[in-house]
Amino acid sequence: MRYLSTRGGVGYKTFEEALFSGYANDGGLLVPEHIPQISLDDLKKWKNLSYPCIVEKIVSCFVTEEELPHKTLQKLIFSAFSRFDTDKVIEIASFGDLNIAELWHGPSLAFKDLAMSVVGELYSYFLSKRKKHVNIVVGTSGDTGSSAIEAVRGKDWIDIIVILPHKRISKIQELMMTTALDGNVHVYAADGFSDEFEITIKSLFADEEFVRTQNLCSINSINWARVMVQIAHHVYLYLRTANPIGSPVDIVIPTGGCGNIASGVFAEAMGVPVKFVCVTNENDIIHRIISSNDFTVAQEVKQTLACSMDIQIPSNFERVLWVYSGSDPESCKQIMGQFDKSGRAVIPEDLHKKLSGIRTAVATDREVLSTQKICYDANKYIACPHTSAALTYYYETSLNGSRKSSGTRLDSGELVPVVICGTASIDKFPDTLGKSGIRNYKTPRKIAELFQKVSRFCIMNKDEDWENTLRNKIDLLSRRAAY
Ligand SMILES: Cc1ncc(COP(=O)(O)O)c(C=O)c1O
Repeated sequence: MRYLSTRGGVGYKTFEEALFSGYANDGGLLVPEHIPQISLDDLKKWKNLSYPCIVEKIVSCFVTEEELPHKTLQKLIFSAFSRFDTDKVIEIASFGDLNIAELWHGPSLAFKDLAMSVVGELYSYFLSKRKKHVNIVVGTSGDTGSSAIEAVRGKDWIDIIVILPHKRISKIQELMMTTALDGNVHVYAADGFSDEFEITIKSLFADEEFVRTQNLCSINSINWARVMVQIAHHVYLYLRTANPIGSPVDIVIPTGGCGNIASGVFAEAMGVPVKFVCVTNENDIIHRIISSNDFTVAQEVKQTLACSMDIQIPSNFERVLWVYSGSDPESCKQIMGQFDKSGRAVIPEDLHKKLSGIRTAVATDREVLSTQKICYDANKYIACPHTSAALTYYYETSLNGSRKSSGTRLDSGELVPVVICGTASIDKFPDTLGKSGIRNYKTPRKIAELFQKVSRFCIMNKDEDWENTLRNKIDLLSRRAAY
């Protein structure tokens, strides 16, 4: 399998090249040259497979045996999930017709660990094979940094530099990063918002010579390999809940940058009968695009309780567009080029009609809080604010615990099973509980211990030349690695 740009302007890349790439040179995102198919027979055979086995099946659809021998892939997947706190990797909490997929049992307590931990292993494998050192640079507004650190801490051939917004994220999020004391982890706390240091990072990556000589790379959410691994959890959730296999399942996704839904849309295009609902917070660009073809960037990002979804530009939407356009690079180039230039675009009517197959909803902070309480009162289950945003859709369509009107229906009129993607543990976001009136929460030992650990980070002051600081550090790390 080879990879090309959603906008058609880049020659083919191998999987290994795609793994170490960010944006394609024409500004698009890397996608596979064709979408592999999963038959009904395959789904029936896979019905009882574990989640790691499903990851193996999915990765094998996109990476050849020559590039990554099967035995190596198996070992790598085993190692990736060895630090999850449950053997199943993903648990599903069920209450009557409500299924909440706990995608957050990894080391950083958020769903990103599912893909990031595999990508960390893939990096390690290819780099040690090539005896090549890389410097990963990650800017984070909270969650990505800790997931990336956990995926690569202590690994040979990799140094990771994470920049976080000082005193602008939760203490737990900050400690999860700054208490990782491994020699290859370097955390900078910048006196500014993430949008500000993203400009610095962009400028670093725009210097092609520097990127090449310092082997700079980024494992942010536009990385194809992360989207690829995430296809597996949609397939797994389908297999766990479909009745019978072949019949549809609704999956509800709390959505920000569209990485999770992009993976879901690939699963659908591969032949898995999944139907999607995207729920945003008040940063609702995805809802506006899909419900009313209003593809316009808002003036500012609103700070909400579901803070990891406080995103204005949903970078992975381009992959959704590419799949729904029938892999048409011309449509993507025209629409996304327009959006890049002016912050707005119009999607042609026929393509927009296809996109409307995805249902959308918006959850306000008030709704997130009341849903958190409703779910707790009904099930003694505490969902994080992001998961609660998605649950809002479920409870809006719920009457005394059974869904009323929305949702996919079979010809018989019966509603199909529904799964809510639980994207983070409440242990990472307990601050909302006072506001939603849930009092029985007890901080787990693992979190309490974070506050006792030694933490280490460098501060980047407002008046400092951030780019220069990072350039010097990267240069030093490359020289250390070469020594
Ligand atoms: C906890 C949580 N929920 C939901 C999301 C949104 O996911 P996506 O950006 O893939 O739409 C994120 C992404 O950062 C997240 O960390």
